[in-house]
Amino acid sequence: MVAQRVIAVYPGSFDPITNGHLDLIERGSKIFDELIVAILRNLGKDPLFSVGERLEMVREATQHCPNVAVDSFDGLLVDYAALRQARVILRGIRAVSDFENEMTMALMNRKLDSNLETVFMMPAVAYTFLSSRLVREVVRLGGDVRGLVPPLVEARLRAKVG
Ligand code: PNS
Repeated sequence: MVAQRVIAVYPGSFDPITNGHLDLIERGSKIFDELIVAILRNLGKDPLFSVGERLEMVREATQHCPNVAVDSFDGLLVDYAALRQARVILRGIRAVSDFENEMTMALMNRKLDSNLETVFMMPAVAYTFLSSRLVREVVRLGGDVRGLVPPLVEARLRAKVG
């Protein structure tokens, strides 16, 4: 029997990508044949970076992972996963506080497509407090985010927020 290639989608806002996201991408790329980082296009919240900018940053930050592809999507995640023939949704859980929201999303996605499995992974402990929202806030208020985002993102944040 020939083993089937497992394609996973790692969806999110990535506004901007952080080292916590990158840590999860590197972990995911080791266990899935192909990992597609999928950036949500219709962000209700006013995004700091455009979809184009977020795509560029994620592409640059994941250049060293040959089996990682970067794309954007709109509409239902389950429809996008089916389009890309992905059987897995990858999500990160940083702390217990993430669990409830992630569980309801995973169960809703299972209800919408019972063939799709959500796999949770934990980032390195050093990133358990990290989120894109906090990074944006710290930068807006003049704080230092070195070591929390890839250097190219840090430069873009400085250029954008000043
Ligand atoms: O980085 P985020 O903001 O936590 O990512 C949330 C995301 C993009 C995974 C979620 O909002 C999503 O899947 N949106 C697509 C719309 C959808 O499929 N909704 C129903 C699933 S519960």
